[in-house]
Amino acid sequence: MKTLSKLQLSIAAIALSFNVVASPSVQLEEANTDITDTASLQNGAKLFMNYCSGCHAISFMRYNRIGSDLGLSDADIEANLMFAGDKVGENITTTMPEKGAAAWFGGTPPDLSLVSRSKGTDWIYSYLKGFYADESRVFGVNNHVLENASMPDALWSLREGQSEEAFDSDVRDITNFLDYVGEPAKLIRTDLGKKVLFFLAILFVLAYLLKKEYWKDVKYGIWRKRD
Ligand code: HEC
Repeated sequence: MKTLSKLQLSIAAIALSFNVVASPSVQLEEANTDITDTASLQNGAKLFMNYCSGCHAISFMRYNRIGSDLGLSDADIEANLMFAGDKVGENITTTMPEKGAAAWFGGTPPDLSLVSRSKGTDWIYSYLKGFYADESRVFGVNNHVLENASMPDALWSLREGQSEEAFDSDVRDITNFLDYVGEPAKLIRTDLGKKVLFFLAILFVLAYLLKKEYWKDVKYGIWRKRD
């Protein structure tokens, strides 16, 4: 009996440490984003600048970094991503005055540079799709993922004009873009990883041949068993 309760205790401790004890949380939809999909990132960047940047900054990011990573020229960026008066080398801040934001929304809209790292892409995707009508709220909407969110449904006009699949795809592109913003070097890192593994594979063959060459003259005996 004593050993049994000890066992139960250890199992409970392990379960808790891995956080497998389910907490009542919302079901998130899978975002299925692909950071190597440049067209999706370009569309996401454009949508972000049009629908989100009025409130949210992504101040760790500069316009020209997006340009060079996503294959956009300075002219493209100026035409599609920037507002008059900004320069391509600048960080992407928001025009929203902090004091006003606090009064209008009860808080400043957070900087989204790292939100994909803290919340994850599934969370962002589900959050952007999770608005529902709720007259008791200031903006007439509430959110399944973030209860009583003080953000209005910024994408309602985008949803109006198109089919559900097309809207989902746009939300996925915005989420993909925020994933990229969270770690721009991911594009380079994953590409470099493949090259390094390829290099190691070739090095393995050469090292093996070299080993065979070195051991060729060593006689079998107590130091070298017959293979
Ligand atoms: C009208 C201003 C406004 C617009 C436009 C807006 N947001 Fe927000 N957003 C907010 C506010 C305010 C919050 C804080 C919500 C809260 O904590 O209750 C927020 C919160 C968020 C969060 C959660 C951040 C966190 O760490 O909790 C994400 C993600 C987000 N917004 C993404 C977006 C995206 C993507 C867009 C564009 C499609 C967008 N927002 C457009 C005002 C806005």
